[in-house]
Amino acid sequence: MSAANDNAVRHSLFNIQYSIVNEVNVMNILITGANGQLGHCMQNIAKQHTEHKYIFTDVCDGYTHLDITNLDAIRKMVAEQHVDCIVNCAAWTNVDAAETAGDIVETLNAKAPEYLAKAMKEVGGLLIHISSDYVFGGDPYNTPCREDQKGTPTGVYGLTKLHGEQNIQAVGGSYVILRTSWLYSEYGKNFVKTMLNLTATKPQLKVVFDQVGTPTYAGDLANAIATIIEDYKKDPSQPSMVFTPPSVPPFPGDRNLLRGGVPTAEKQQETQQANSKLVSPSPLGRDGRGFPSEGRGEACYSKSGIYHFSNEGVCSWYDFTKAIAQIAGNTSCDIQPCHSSEFPSPVTRPSYSVLDKTKIKETFNLSIPYWLDSLRKCEEHLLANSACSEEKRR
Ligand SMILES: NC(=O)c1ccc[n+]([C@@H]2O[C@H](COP(=O)([O-])OP(=O)(O)OC[C@H]3O[C@@H](n4cnc5c(N)ncnc54)[C@H](OP(=O)(O)O)[C@@H]3O)[C@@H](O)[C@H]2O)c1
Repeated sequence: MSAANDNAVRHSLFNIQYSIVNEVNVMNILITGANGQLGHCMQNIAKQHTEHKYIFTDVCDGYTHLDITNLDAIRKMVAEQHVDCIVNCAAWTNVDAAETAGDIVETLNAKAPEYLAKAMKEVGGLLIHISSDYVFGGDPYNTPCREDQKGTPTGVYGLTKLHGEQNIQAVGGSYVILRTSWLYSEYGKNFVKTMLNLTATKPQLKVVFDQVGTPTYAGDLANAIATIIEDYKKDPSQPSMVFTPPSVPPFPGDRNLLRGGVPTAEKQQETQQANSKLVSPSPLGRDGRGFPSEGRGEACYSKSGIYHFSNEGVCSWYDFTKAIAQIAGNTSCDIQPCHSSEFPSPVTRPSYSVLDKTKIKETFNLSIPYWLDSLRKCEEHLLANSACSEEKRR
């Protein structure tokens, strides 16, 4: 075979290899706090996106152990698992207990996100971090809060979540901070599950109507996270992830072959040296997955920043409870609106914490479900799960 023919064959093979790689585009995605509400919803996402490898971690049994307050442990896991992206679902989430829990709240909500950001920056990966509407609340807002609005937290939880955002921004690198509100799901303890129980068992219930916001179904938030990950994969600022098949030369170090020459030992050495300087020295990347897990350099995701995500619409906790009961058919409970002052708590909750989602919708072309539609979906799942467990008990 002539050198020109040989080169043509290699060129085609090269393009075939790359198109396979491009279609597969494997990512290693580390989920922290996998046993929490959002962590469980990310487990459902993993079942739909089987092209990626997910590593589910938490501090409890049943998951790969990762304590996100330990920087060395994070770095070790990132290196061993070739992590390309971390979705941080772990946090201190008990708002009232945060007031008296001490340093652990700042460590978990502010220091740990900084560690995760550092670990991702070191390998050129992406951190997706979840923050909260409780970074607002100190000012009497009556229009939806935008991302660039000043944080005015009213308690330790909100303040530490704000510090977490600031620490990630100070580290830099590729990051997406998603502020969300009133999170609920089929998993763990949450407002929907509590109210389903109370409205089924109590004759009367008082719920505050002077705190207004938007519920967020964690399944919808997990879908938004999956969309962001897919967008990141295609981001032009990620040179090693976006492949444009080269026309000339097919292998940068094989220029002598294009000229029709036969590679001498000297040329071969030259070729190897040239290839070793490339970001991705082989078409399949350093780890053979077509997606180099290290050394992406300083390139940052062009859409790094803070975004707001909740479901669409607005309601008070009272309206939310009425809807929860109505969907479940819990009609015997008399639900009455009341003022927050009737339920004194260690932290003053925001009276208006509606998040403006214009930025996330426009940037990622997202269509977000209306809160009532998602609530119906979640309750349907809960009903189906309880029917399933009932069937198993029989
Ligand atoms: N829930 C809401 O209404 C709400 C509203 C706005 C924003 N958010 C934010 O949304 C995110 C997800 O919330 P969620 O409700 O899904 O949380 P969640 O159900 O409370 O789950 C948090 C998970 O993190 C784990 N965790 C605790 N300490 C850890 C550590 N040192 N290292 C690793 N994992 C640790 C927890 O384990 P243990 O259970 O064993 O402690 C738990 O499995 C959080 O960032 C939260 O701040 C939540």
